[in-house]
Amino acid sequence: VKIIAYGIREDERPYLEEWAQDQGIEVRVVRELLDEQTADLAKGYDGAVVYQQKPYSGAILDRLAANGVTNLSLRNVGVDNVDADAVKRHGFKVTNVPAYSPAAIAEFTVTRLMQLLRRTPTFDREQALGDLRWAPDIADELNTMTVGIVATGRIGRAAMKIYQGFGAKVIAYDVYHNPELEKQGIYVDTLDDLYAQADVISLHAPATKDNEKMLNDAAFAKMKPGVWILNPARGALIDTDALIRALDSGQVAGAALDVYEDEVGIFNTDFGSFASIPDERLKNLMERDNVLVSPHIAFYTRTAVKNMVQYALNNNRDLIATGHAKNEVQF
Ligand code: COI
Repeated sequence: VKIIAYGIREDERPYLEEWAQDQGIEVRVVRELLDEQTADLAKGYDGAVVYQQKPYSGAILDRLAANGVTNLSLRNVGVDNVDADAVKRHGFKVTNVPAYSPAAIAEFTVTRLMQLLRRTPTFDREQALGDLRWAPDIADELNTMTVGIVATGRIGRAAMKIYQGFGAKVIAYDVYHNPELEKQGIYVDTLDDLYAQADVISLHAPATKDNEKMLNDAAFAKMKPGVWILNPARGALIDTDALIRALDSGQVAGAALDVYEDEVGIFNTDFGSFASIPDERLKNLMERDNVLVSPHIAFYTRTAVKNMVQYALNNNRDLIATGHAKNEVQF
């Protein structure tokens, strides 16, 4: 068994090496991402382990298949950037890591909400200028609020528990109803019901063709005035221009965005200065005290990174050995 791993960062390498040693399996480390050129490095390997936000395009998957590699294990959960037609055309077996650490995302999401509710971005900024006054930045308390969870997968459920720990009322919308939550009477019937009742909307859905820009002008208009929006999921879920309009009008009180529609090529890059960030709309959001932007870091913990690397390698090993693995994704 020989595995090639693409796009390996320095923080991932120790976990990869530990796994390879424990398993006695050869894993070739490639720092570059999988693309049409680097796909040729896979010749002679039995499977590839990958993580990237750039598309796994038809052309890339064609190249990989031409090199005899059709076992593809993603180190992350989202599969929205994988070309489904190419997967079917070549009979790729694809795995993801659906639960590397739901808590990592949930903890970060609630942390950002608490910063927004307690106005810490404003206090931090004013303090640095020597202004230690209280008013007018009076805060709100989560325990008085209703939180609406959109999608009750592992991350949504982990977030729900934390919100409940703070004493918030939690409601949720999902097409699929988790039986445990159903018993607790958590679910509302429609997204419109959730929009009408929630003081905070916490997005935990994967990006699909059906939910693109689900938070648009019409959706914001149905929400309670002064609603707080949290998106640690996928940038495609929010129409950014509509969000900016809703922030300007005050319909949305504030937002925590760990993802952004146009984040690919921007997040996880050092531009050297704020002025050099090449996205005016993103900077518009970043300059607001009531918007917390972060560069897709909710997942970025030691626990999560270790699990992403080692669970993906387990999946790839199992695909190679048996043709199946625990986390196979159906396209
Ligand atoms: C995912 O797991 O799909 C994520 O969004 C996290 C990624 C940045 C590694």
